Amino acid sequence: MGAQIPMEKQTSSPNPRDIREASGEDRALLSARGVEKVYKKGPAEVRSLRGVDLDVRKGELAFIVGPSGSGKSTLLGILGALDRPTSGKVWLEGRDLFDRSDRELAMLRRSKFGFVFQAFNLIPTLTALENVLCPLIPGGTAREAAQDAARLLSTLGLGERMKHKPFELSGGEQQRVALARALIGKPEIVFADEPTGELDSQKGGEIIGMIRAMNRDIGVTVLIVTHAVQHILPGDRVLKLKDGRFAEDAPTPGGAPAGGKDAATKGGA
Ligand SMILES: Nc1ncnc2c1ncn2[C@@H]1O[C@H](COP(=O)(O)OP(=O)(O)OP(=O)(O)O)[C@@H](O)[C@H]1O
Ligand SMILES: [Mg+2]
Repeated sequence: MGAQIPMEKQTSSPNPRDIREASGEDRALLSARGVEKVYKKGPAEVRSLRGVDLDVRKGELAFIVGPSGSGKSTLLGILGALDRPTSGKVWLEGRDLFDRSDRELAMLRRSKFGFVFQAFNLIPTLTALENVLCPLIPGGTAREAAQDAARLLSTLGLGERMKHKPFELSGGEQQRVALARALIGKPEIVFADEPTGELDSQKGGEIIGMIRAMNRDIGVTVLIVTHAVQHILPGDRVLKLKDGRFAEDAPTPGGAPAGGKDAATKGGA
């Protein structure tokens, strides 16, 4: 009774992976199958994504790389529910991401996702602290929220810069404010589209280092689009896009997809 472990495995202790899969712990947080995006410009069509399959597990950090125009931003926008696919499916925690109204998607983005963009996108008239507080859905008290924001900014080395406005901050500092803003709502997933694109290599490395620390310390799942491959380390998960598809030579993982064909990509640097 209750024998979940196949006979041949009873001779040795069960594989931890089997236990995780049986408990559902190992299921993908975010999955995509056959995602396509076609932009129509008059009679012309741009096929930005041509069938993308992907599984991202909770707590994972992955880089998405590829030439300009390969569809990286399009894919990140779809996974982050900023845009709908033309066809294909995306699941968040096993539920169809786009089986929701635009209003529900907006709520979901605010409660579960954090975004970091190349161009920081801070509000110029607000201080660093106010920018971080900006996306918060009223929940706890304003004082608690301000304390959280101040703590985050301090962690990111901006303890002395909280009252500064964006024009009084360097590029690297502005991006750290943007990172704090992405994290203030305690998101499950952070989507970063070329977060180092406006920074020199050293400052870019610092931002990537801070994102890695957040992933490691608070377990937030992270997807980073980047051209700055010098920041990718051996052992990092790297997803290579080319012409709207993941590179065919990318090895496939052994994990269980949320459904559909098993062609998710997982590769080394
Ligand atoms: N709103 C849009 N309307 C029409 N075509 C678009 C739109 N957005 C993107 N595209 C096209 O889709 C393709 C993929 O664009 P995308 O921005 O996803 O590329 P990318 O990999 O992020 O490139 P880059 O590295 O330059 O940022 C490109 O050919 C682009 O011109
Ligand atoms: Mg892009």
